[in-house]
Amino acid sequence: MNAFETGAGSAPLGSPRVHLRTVASTNARARELAMAGAPHGTLVTASEQTAGRGRHGRAWASSPGASLLCSLVLRDAPPLLPLIAGVAVCDAIGEGARAKWPNDVLIGGEGRLGKVAGILVEGRPQERWAVLGIGVNVALRLEQLPPDVRVRAATLARPASAVEPLLADLLAALALRLSEPAGHALAAFRERDALRGQAVSWAGGSGTAQGIDEDGRLLVKLADASVVALNAGDVHLSAAG
Ligand code: BTN
Repeated sequence: MNAFETGAGSAPLGSPRVHLRTVASTNARARELAMAGAPHGTLVTASEQTAGRGRHGRAWASSPGASLLCSLVLRDAPPLLPLIAGVAVCDAIGEGARAKWPNDVLIGGEGRLGKVAGILVEGRPQERWAVLGIGVNVALRLEQLPPDVRVRAATLARPASAVEPLLADLLAALALRLSEPAGHALAAFRERDALRGQAVSWAGGSGTAQGIDEDGRLLVKLADASVVALNAGDVHLSAAG
């Protein structure tokens, strides 16, 4: 098995690859390819997105040539894919990267943790495909982001020439994490958990994050000491969390 294979006879991640100078959204393009029958591991990358998509219907801002913008077509993706992908992004970025449930990646900078990478998983489980979209602020300068995004963002502040090597590291990390039992990624997530012990709030309540359970749900201790388990698909943690 080479570094980018995902085991069990799967095709390698990143092949075939479609690179676009400009695209509305690599996720949108990868979805089209998935629905047209593209194989497992198909990769769409772009230097620039004009309508990058984030979670909860938000936009994902980037700057041409300064961000890693990629989307992978995966067949029969595991249920914990969003968490596994977050851990793989941490692996690729290296020391200091922290995972914020469900799948943001944070790094320290200027005395605070900021979001350096975002992950958007879209798909049709009944059709057995998913698109894993990942954006990483590699060479971006924070002032290139809209002010409301900038306040919570971080950048690796690497040269633009680091985008492609980071993609190679990310594909290798993803291949490894996807080939492992899911429990390994859960353990790795717990080691890098940025929310543990932090106050979190969502539309239905608030409390203190206690880590994640075996199903990847966020455990939150409420004021009355009871613990609730939150599903990533059901809750949207507020900015304060
Ligand atoms: C989030 O944190 O809200 C998720 C952001 C995901 C952004 C990436 S950039 C590459 C891919 N294409 C998109 O349109 N979105 C994802």
